[in-house]
Amino acid sequence: MATVSAGTYVAVTQTCSHEPKKAIIFNKTEFYCTQHGARFDLTGKGKNSFGSGGLTVYKVATDGKTLVVYS
Ligand code: FES
Repeated sequence: MATVSAGTYVAVTQTCSHEPKKAIIFNKTEFYCTQHGARFDLTGKGKNSFGSGGLTVYKVATDGKTLVVYS
């Protein structure tokens, strides 16, 4: 789960699509895998060859108090 700007959240799997490692972090503006450097945009689209498999993005809903992540 990342706060990409105030009040805007994006939830993605922690498991990389390159190899099944739980190494995805949010790095300023994109998701990044600390294992080999796969990069993904906020929609889960790969930004380099390691990220070409994309990243699963979950739906997020909030009423300002409660945050719900669903698929
Ligand atoms: S396991 Fe994520 S880039 Fe290789």
